[in-house]
Amino acid sequence: MRIAVTGSTGQLGRAVTAAARADGHEVLGLARTEAEPCDLTDRSTVDTRLRAWAPDLVVHAAGWTDVDGCERDPGTAQVLNVAVTVLVADAARRAGAHLVYVSTNHVFDGEADRPAQETDPTSARSAYGRSKRDGELVAGDLATVVRTAWLVSRQRPNLVAAILDAASRPGPLRFVTDEIAQPTLVDDLAPVLLRLGTERRSGTWHAVNEGPSSAHELAREVLVAAGDDPRRVQPITAADLPERVAPRPRNGVLDTRHLREDGGGGLPHHRDQLRALVEDLRSR
Ligand SMILES: NC(=O)c1ccc[n+]([C@@H]2O[C@H](COP(=O)([O-])OP(=O)(O)OC[C@H]3O[C@@H](n4cnc5c(N)ncnc54)[C@H](OP(=O)(O)O)[C@@H]3O)[C@@H](O)[C@H]2O)c1
Repeated sequence: MRIAVTGSTGQLGRAVTAAARADGHEVLGLARTEAEPCDLTDRSTVDTRLRAWAPDLVVHAAGWTDVDGCERDPGTAQVLNVAVTVLVADAARRAGAHLVYVSTNHVFDGEADRPAQETDPTSARSAYGRSKRDGELVAGDLATVVRTAWLVSRQRPNLVAAILDAASRPGPLRFVTDEIAQPTLVDDLAPVLLRLGTERRSGTWHAVNEGPSSAHELAREVLVAAGDDPRRVQPITAADLPERVAPRPRNGVLDTRHLREDGGGGLPHHRDQLRALVEDLRSR
């Protein structure tokens, strides 16, 4: 199959590219920092590149993921997360390709006392969450929309890397206890995106690793995996971080039953690969 991957230089795009190539697919990477650069805000470039290459599947993993940056500049968030999705979806449609759009748990306000299901009403509280929800809507009814959370990988920046960077400095680490979500390894997520995409499974799916955690709990796990003392991690609350301008979901946990009961199965516990990821990040 011919698979175009937007955001191919990002955390998730790289993993999707690697997984697709390992499965024997041909891959076209679209990003500004690719060898042949592609600015996805440029309609004629997106159209020309996708039309000429004629993919069977487009995995749209590009986006602006700086949650506070989006809050400060919601206009740019709309351009990069919505207008770009319109262009990519239009070009995919014209090429006859199926579209996978990657979304987020920030489409929910996180005030529920249970994990959010795909069918729950959305209620984003941040400019990032609203732009990603708008992106879901413009992706179109036939698209596969996959909501995920707290992506971690060998590529910086991400939460596990931030924890290791903090641990490399002397003194205590401070991480939040009152926001939870499922940390998700891009290498576990990428095959799920490819399966749902190649099978053209339209609709919305929640795909995250098992194991809801706060950043505080994850930091303790990371320190243990790194052979460090988890007691260095001190608990703080979201209110202790006034420099963060965008609200985050308090309960950002996604219900994954739909994916787990679908036949292809869900993602493993994040802890399964955490030690390998920590070792990899520390060796860089
Ligand atoms: N990170 C998370 O924790 C998280 C959680 C839930 C959902 N998501 C979603 O998952 C997706 C992937 O996230 P990620 O963490 O892999 O993001 P990332 O590492 O920040 O990568 C973003 C990618 O988008 C590309 N991009 C941005 N603007 C572009 C433009 N104008 N033209 C071309 N390419 C552009 C970047 O490439 P260049 O800079 O080279 O152009 C880069 O390859 C996003 O849609 C995000 O909303 C992420």
